[in-house]
Amino acid sequence: MLKLTYHGHSCFELEAEGKRVIVDPFLTGNVHAKVKPADIRVDAILVSHGHGDHVGDAVQIAKNNRCGVVSNFEIANWFSAQGVEAHGMHIGGSHTFPWGRVKLTPAWHGSSLPDGSYGGTPAGLLIWMGGKCVYFAGDTGIHSDMALYGRLNPIDLALLPIGDNFTMGLDDAVEAAALCQAKEVMPIHYDTFPVIPADPHEFVKRCQARGIKGRVVEFGQTVAV
Ligand code: NI
Ligand code: MN
Repeated sequence: MLKLTYHGHSCFELEAEGKRVIVDPFLTGNVHAKVKPADIRVDAILVSHGHGDHVGDAVQIAKNNRCGVVSNFEIANWFSAQGVEAHGMHIGGSHTFPWGRVKLTPAWHGSSLPDGSYGGTPAGLLIWMGGKCVYFAGDTGIHSDMALYGRLNPIDLALLPIGDNFTMGLDDAVEAAALCQAKEVMPIHYDTFPVIPADPHEFVKRCQARGIKGRVVEFGQTVAV
């Protein structure tokens, strides 16, 4: 069984078969997070792109847990330079880790790191754990590759940004939900900053009107995928 815990914004944890990972660990400064970096116990950290609201507390969590970061090559090097073990990958590549498998997908966005370093190209993530496939679209506008990745890698749950301004807004996110053909979709990356307000229940309602199953996971809630 695969369990997902949502910490708000794009930060979530996945747990299966006694292994745990955290994705885009933005907790400090995340108004919706109910946990602190010191509370996190994980086997790995996944980072989709270099922006501060995604890199978040990765360095502290990695050091606390003596675990590694998985990200694109440029971001992996940035973590390595700070004494954090990192595994670099890139778009289209997949790798199997002791806790599961990851493939990096395209995301249309930026990726500069908090100190201004070059952070390569931003990514979405396909994550296989506990016999399920989770697609985290990352920070991105809608793109038709979502249909291809969904066809090649049947998706159980897709996490799609709905907050607009920096990513897809609600209208495009509903189209993205249709494109990726996931069994279920979940809205993310909304209401964290004043500039990204969105109604997650409206997203789910509009997905349901298109025959797509959607679920709002509350901040801090743990659900079975
Ligand atoms: Ni971003
Ligand atoms: Mn973001």
